[in-house]
Amino acid sequence: MLNLKSFMSDRVAIDLGTANTRLYVQNEGIVIDEPSVVAVDLAIKPAGRVVAVGFEASSMLGKAPEHIRVIRPVRYGAITDIDAACAMLSRFIHKARSRSRFSRFQAVIAVPAGISQIESHAVIEAAEAAGASRIQLLESTLAAALGADLPIGEPVCSMVVDIGGGTTEVAVMSLSGIVASRSTRVAGDQMNMAIKNYIRRRFDLLIGDSWAERAKTSVANACPQSDENATIEIRGRDVTSGIPKVILIDTHDIWEAMSDQINAIVQTARSVLEEIPPELSADVIDRGFLLTGGGALMTNLGLYLSTQLGIPAVIPVDPLSTVLLGAAGAMNAMTDFSSHIIAGCSRAARNIRPALV
Ligand SMILES: Nc1ncnc2c1ncn2[C@@H]1O[C@H](COP(=O)(O)OP(=O)(O)OP(=O)(O)O)[C@@H](O)[C@H]1O
Ligand SMILES: [Mg+2]
Repeated sequence: MLNLKSFMSDRVAIDLGTANTRLYVQNEGIVIDEPSVVAVDLAIKPAGRVVAVGFEASSMLGKAPEHIRVIRPVRYGAITDIDAACAMLSRFIHKARSRSRFSRFQAVIAVPAGISQIESHAVIEAAEAAGASRIQLLESTLAAALGADLPIGEPVCSMVVDIGGGTTEVAVMSLSGIVASRSTRVAGDQMNMAIKNYIRRRFDLLIGDSWAERAKTSVANACPQSDENATIEIRGRDVTSGIPKVILIDTHDIWEAMSDQINAIVQTARSVLEEIPPELSADVIDRGFLLTGGGALMTNLGLYLSTQLGIPAVIPVDPLSTVLLGAAGAMNAMTDFSSHIIAGCSRAARNIRPALV
């Protein structure tokens, strides 16, 4: 008997982030949510072989022997290693497929605003290699706004601040268009770097990325005086003696380490606010801004930004998935890939001819 589903290609929304990759399959929901990491065994000739992706590969970061390269193929929101990105995406699609049994698929992919032609082609190439038959790109701030049900089609100010691993994106939207936007590389990775540098300077201790991440996600507090001081044990290698050492750091240390980064994010948001017309400035006082991305999970970051900017912050229930859910919403709303939701709103989508295979 003919299977009608086999004639239709499925639709997949993808958030290919610097820190995490997420996939949403139509009628299934979120099927992949894993670190954007891939491990390649170079000892297997001629070109090496992918031995792990996602959580498994992430657990190898900083711990692998020389013949295994553990790669983060996305940096600052853009693909920097196309082969590794293709391999990672293919594996994730394969994993998703084993659950949902789809074959060819159409993809909506969230990308940073202002992505270059070269960067967008790298994303398209990776998705094509993973089996996508039609690809459309959607700016991630727009996707976040859709994911949080902001009224982007109305003549009101919808502002998004998305703090991810590699980039912080700020955009103000009105009437389905982006009125002003800015992107900065100050985000989760740079905060981790700042923590590593601080601990080296202050405690003579070299620590790995995973310990900086642990310190940030467990004791960081953007208003350190407002809550109790939390502490965490950090392990690393003493700079002078070279032997392993354990130290105790607290919320105030972490704030001192990364307050410059957080204030740089405040400046980025301010510069966007300075660019918007006064009517929209008037709106944003009441409507506030949507805070998404993993950074939104930091204790009191919404409070700090809102105090500095003088406008309220709104944090969705799951700020890590807002972009993906918005891309999925745009995908579900489309009857075909010429829908105005994407073509009309996204600068990236307008500039890029969808790749048809
Ligand atoms: N509780 C927390 N406090 C501070 N930062 C956090 C917390 N939880 C997660 N993060 C950070 O959020 C970042 C990951 O967020 P997200 O998944 O939104 O990034 P991404 O979409 O992969 O990156 P990008 O959008 O920049 O390409 C990481 O840097 C992580 O350290
Ligand atoms: Mg992101």
